[in-house]
Amino acid sequence: MEIRRSLSHHSGPGRSPHEVLRRLTAYVGPGTRPEDPVRELEERVAGLLGKPGALFFPSGTMAQQVALRVHAERSGRRTFAAHPQTHLQAWENQGYSAVHGLRLHPVGDRHELMTLQDLKTAGEPLAAVVIELPQRDIGGLLPSFEDLAAQARWARESGAAVHCDGARLWEAQTGYDASLAEIAALFDTVYVSLYKGLEGIRGAVLAGDDETIAQAAVWRRRLGGAIVDAWPLAAAALMGLDEVLPRMAEFRAHARALAEAINADGFAHTTPEVPATPLFHVHLPLSREDAQRAARDLLEETGIRLFLYARSNPDPRRCGFEVSVGTSGTGFTPAEVVELIKGLPSRV
Ligand SMILES: Cc1ncc(COP(=O)(O)O)c(C=O)c1O
Repeated sequence: MEIRRSLSHHSGPGRSPHEVLRRLTAYVGPGTRPEDPVRELEERVAGLLGKPGALFFPSGTMAQQVALRVHAERSGRRTFAAHPQTHLQAWENQGYSAVHGLRLHPVGDRHELMTLQDLKTAGEPLAAVVIELPQRDIGGLLPSFEDLAAQARWARESGAAVHCDGARLWEAQTGYDASLAEIAALFDTVYVSLYKGLEGIRGAVLAGDDETIAQAAVWRRRLGGAIVDAWPLAAAALMGLDEVLPRMAEFRAHARALAEAINADGFAHTTPEVPATPLFHVHLPLSREDAQRAARDLLEETGIRLFLYARSNPDPRRCGFEVSVGTSGTGFTPAEVVELIKGLPSRV
């Protein structure tokens, strides 16, 4: 089934292998050695985040587990605190525990942002506090910069490292009156993704001080992540830094225009009502099964992918889906998105 247009950059048409390879030739010349794009990428990300060191990883899953392992070994503590819906818990089959012997202390409410008060109730020594920016599974909410700084300060004072799950940090920056480096300065380690907002192929970078990055490199090798031919992934990410990163504020403005139109129409509504980043959730008066059937029908008929998957709701008559505006999402007008969403019940 050909996806011609998508409201999620994960399935944008620009990600077809042929299209990616065509554009990548600008980043790989006759003299390019396999290690060059990776080194350039690590240097650029370290520079953008204002960190001394940065290390490429094949996945964010590996990068984050390694960061936590290093923080745990250094502090001699096994527990880290994070939001109940952290990716580490929801999507990684408890790899932090199965592979690294670490424990998660979930902090705060599933449907709200983690607060300083929540952290203070943790009540046990922590190796690290993980803060995800934005908190994807609750619609991409962002703590204020002041809250973030207060949580980071509390963590440090209690002897815990502060780690940023910055899978969407490129997008999150648009919600702050602060640069990427100013945000990253609050954290000991920061992971960023190369294939979400940057629209690359795959991969991740972990940034931090030199000692932490040197230790992370040992764990990366142990886990089989020290792949020498990562250059296509790195080159695609460099392309993303050049071409997509400068557009993040535009993506957020478009996300806000889409959300405003959806809320004004009233058939569906968004959370947050005014998106803090290019990512937000749409809530529908349809069961998850019906929404998925309707979206499949829409895709088959038009080549438009409205969402990757529908999210369940405690009320089985309702469901939600994520919108993450990127290059592909800007091709949809607000009125068109409203019509597509309103048309779903007729496709069930
Ligand atoms: C918030 C968050 N953290 C971490 C990851 C892991 O990234 P990867 O898919 O590169 O393992 C993801 C991936 O979707 C994510 O959304």
